[in-house]
This record gives sequence, structure tokens and C-alpha cells, in this order.
Amino acid sequence: MSQRSCLSIILAAGEGTRMKSAVPKVLHTIAGLPMVAHVVKAAEAAGSGDLALVIGHGADDMRKAALKFAPKAEAFVQEKRLGTAHAVLAARAAISKGYDDILVMFGDTPLIDPEALAAARLKLAEGAAVVVVGFRTEHPSGYGRLIEKAGKLVAIREERDCSDEEKKITFCNGGLMAVAGRHALKLLDQVGSKNAKGEYYLTDIVEIAAAQGLDVVATEASFENALGINNRAELAQAEGIWQARRRQEAMLSGVTLVAPETVFFSHDTEIGADTIVEPNVWFGPGVKIATGAKIHAFSHIEGATIASNCDVGPFARLRPGADLRNKAKVGNFCEVKQAIVEEGAKVNHLTYIGDARIGAGANIGAGTITCNYDGYSKFFTDIGEGAFIGSNSSLVAPVSIGKDGYIASGSVITESVPDDALAFGRARQRTLPGKGKELRERFASAAAARKKG
Ligand code: UD1
Ligand code: CA
Repeated sequence: MSQRSCLSIILAAGEGTRMKSAVPKVLHTIAGLPMVAHVVKAAEAAGSGDLALVIGHGADDMRKAALKFAPKAEAFVQEKRLGTAHAVLAARAAISKGYDDILVMFGDTPLIDPEALAAARLKLAEGAAVVVVGFRTEHPSGYGRLIEKAGKLVAIREERDCSDEEKKITFCNGGLMAVAGRHALKLLDQVGSKNAKGEYYLTDIVEIAAAQGLDVVATEASFENALGINNRAELAQAEGIWQARRRQEAMLSGVTLVAPETVFFSHDTEIGADTIVEPNVWFGPGVKIATGAKIHAFSHIEGATIASNCDVGPFARLRPGADLRNKAKVGNFCEVKQAIVEEGAKVNHLTYIGDARIGAGANIGAGTITCNYDGYSKFFTDIGEGAFIGSNSSLVAPVSIGKDGYIASGSVITESVPDDALAFGRARQRTLPGKGKELRERFASAAAARKKG
């Protein structure tokens, strides 16, 4: 089947006004990825080679965004929103190139399953002219109904055009359709707009094809395949379903999630076996975790690479470029950005490490700050292997601490420290016996004098 050429057409010319947003509907994200990009991924996973994106007039944001998630896609503008068949025909030039299979998907239906697409393509390979991916629901209101006669699909009727009898049908059009390339344009060009909405309905090709004796087939998939997003409540619903699937997948692949419903993955999170994730952990985009790591509760992690057996959190924040090598430790209330924490190094408490390298086995005391920014530019801090940074030190970058260097706590380090050196960057302590008492007495009598006067 993989030899069959395939074009996916993704309809994304919707107005999406119910999102109440300046952002086009299909660019709203699920697991950090625009919903239309989820559709693109599903198409690719089903072996679709080429991609046509049908967008609304003047959708510059869409074009720009598409360059990121579908750089090879060809964009077509549907000038007027005259219906789903009209939208598909906006990609006429692409369809005309001649494909074995054509898949039509909606950009606002992000949970479609590549397997449902592959199953539909298989039906085309077996000779069907049109394949409709249907689903069953007890609440069919709003969906096109699949009208069957003698076990054969003969039409799809939109809700508004249904008779009372037809409205009772619970087998619905999920919106995914596969069409044999050689029939596609001929069928689409026959679609008229005689219906309650006066639109050119893609779904009408079913009746047209069936009437011409072509093979029309309905397959069945789960409801999620049809879950179209129209507002932010539905967006959250889709996010919930996506997360539930991903958690299940993670657990079955050997990751312990103590309270799965409180862990949020990104579309691209990679997490290895024997990692334990405690409750309330958030993964933003670009996280890679090897095996055996412990991610303690309430950690927020994005763009970070975490090697085997690392220990992170609780309440750690790893930002883009955080690169933890084997057995590194980043503890509570620590933030790490654009920094390598080498093997076995420890950043345990209340620390900010940005634009830095921390050598293997180094120990970073509580409250250490790499002062990496002067308000204009960022500078680098290099901490050598085995170094010890005393608590509450400020390392003013650019600066380096040599191998096994030792920084006294409370230091402000502005000059680089060589290997094995001890550096104090603070005033020496003075202790004056009896002076505390004397001071108190002076202050007390001054206060009394003020009260009197
Ligand atoms: C459509 C199906 C219906 C199915 C339902 C599943 C048709 C005629 N109806 O109904 O059978 O049960 O989806 O969710 O296909 N679009 C354009 N340009 C247009 C019109 C639509 O790009 O001119 C895009 C929309 O952005 C949307 C998709 O096509 O992504 C579906 O359009 P919509 O109007 O939402 O169709 P439904 O009424 O939901
Ligand atoms: Ca819809």
C-alpha cells in the first residue's frame, strides 16, 4: 500500500469566531502543538506524501505557522467560505497532479488516528471510490448521518436536511474522507448547493458516487476522530483526551506516574523507562529524559535534556538548554537555563544557574546565583569539576571557577578563580566583645530621651 501515492488535503479555512481569539482557530495548541499540526502528523503517519492546506483569505499567520509544522505543504486560499467541497476544490491544482489516494481532513479535528486514515486508504487500495470514516454516538445532533441501504452507504445527510426518521440514525460522518484520485475531480465538480445551508457539501460526493455505481464504503472509528474544536471548552476536552492517551502510553512503556492525571506532557516529550514522575509535573516542548530519572513533584520542565538517573525537584524549573548529565541533581526551588550540569554535580537548593557549565561532581550551595545578565547581554559562567560554591554566592559572569576551586559562602565573585584556590569575595567578619550590649544601651537611652522630650 505504501507505494500508492497520496495527497492529504487539510481544510483550515474556518473562521473560528467562537474561540474569541486573535489567533486563527487551528493554530490553538494541544500539548503545545497547533491543532492543525496534529492533523498533519496523523497524515504523515498514515503514509501521506504530499500535503495541501486550504486556508482562509489573508491568512498570513497561517502561512507563517505552516512553514514550521508543515514546510512542504502547499497552501491554497479559499476566497469565500462556500462549503467543504468548495474548500477541497481550492486545492484543484494539487488534485490534478494525479494521486492514487486523496485524504480530506479538517484542521480543527486534532485527535484523528493515523490508523483510521490507514484503514481508509486500505479500502481505496481494495477498489473503493469513496471511503467515509464514521463513528457511532448516542448524541448525533449536529453531525451528518450515514444513510445506508441494504448494508451499503448511499448518502450522507447533514442534520438540517435530515427527515425526522433520518435524525434517529446514530452512525455519523466523522469528517474524514478518502477518495480515489482518479474519481476525485469528476465527483467534486458534480456537487451542487441545493441544501438547507446553500453550501457545496463534500459529503454529497457519496450520493453522487453511489448513484453512478461506484463502490462507496463506510469504516468505523472512535468518536475522538470526529472531535471538532469550536471553542476553548472543546479545546480543553481534546487536550484532556490527548493527555490521557499519552499518559497511558508512557506508563505502558515503563514510566511510573504516581498520579497520572496530574502530569502534563508535550507533543514531543521523550521519557525513558524506569523514570518516576511524581504528582503535578509539567513538561513543555523539547524535553528528553533518559532512563531511571526521578522527577519530583511540582517541577516545570521545558527544552531540557535529562540523562540517566538524574534527580530533579521537587519544585525545580528546568528551562530551554538545561542539559543534565548522568546522576546530576537539581533540587528544590532551583532554576537552570542554558547550562550543562555534568555528571554527579549537585545544585540542590534555591539557586539560579543560567548560561553556565557545572563540572562533574561540583557542589553548588544554597542560594547561589550566576549573574549572567547585565541588562544588555548574557555572559557565561564556567565552574570546574569538583568545585565547591559556598551558599549564597553570586558569580558575576563572565567568570570561571577552576577545578576543585572553593568559594567561601556569601561571596560575590567577579574575578576568575584558578584550580584548587580558595576565594573570599566578601568583607572579613569582625567580632567586638561586649559591643552588642553597649549598642543596645545607647539605643534604649536615646529612645527614652525622645519620649520625654
Ligand atoms: C462537517 C460534515 C458533517 C460531519 C462533521 C463532523 C460536511 C458538509 N459536513 O459538518 O457531515 O458530521 O463535519 O465534524 O462536510 N471548511 C472550510 N471551508 C468551507 C467550509 C468548511 O475550510 O467553506 C472547513 C472548516 O474550517 C472545518 C471543516 O471544513 O474545519 C468542516 O466544516 P464545518 O462547517 O465545521 O462542517 P460541519 O457542519 O461541522
Ligand atoms: Ca465542525
